[in-house]
Amino acid sequence: MKTAAFIIIAIATASSLTYAKDAALVAKGKAIFKVNCETCHGEKADGMGPAGQYMSPHPRNLVKDKFKAGDSTAQIYNTVTNGLPNTAMVGFPQLTDADRHAVAAYVKSLRAH
Ligand code: HEC
Repeated sequence: MKTAAFIIIAIATASSLTYAKDAALVAKGKAIFKVNCETCHGEKADGMGPAGQYMSPHPRNLVKDKFKAGDSTAQIYNTVTNGLPNTAMVGFPQLTDADRHAVAAYVKSLRAH
């Protein structure tokens, strides 16, 4: 009985640690988004940023539009790294690898699941 209780506590602690780690990554990604993406994609990531609202085509609504290049975290990371050819969505090779992972995790967290 004691062992079972210990295991339950251990599992609960491990999963809340994972959650905290993800939450920290998403929070970091949000800060990166604010600096690098918001002018186009907007504060709500709806494609209506100060510059984005005048663009045609609009920057993607990152919450609900379909992504051409896929919307897994890894695919979003690729888009952030390389951009989409012949669009205003340029790549961000100047961001560190870790920063591109974080911003991809943030974008993924905005998607309706
Ligand atoms: C200069 C404006 C601009 C900036 C800055 C910008 N984007 Fe975009 N983004 C666009 C446009 C425009 C599109 C839609 C391109 C198209 O028509 O296919 C787009 C599309 C996307 C897509 C959808 C890709 C797909 O597969 O359909 C993602 C994801 C994305 N942007 C993420 C980001 C992230 C993350 C950042 C910041 C690191 C960022 N964008 C910065 C303009 C921008």
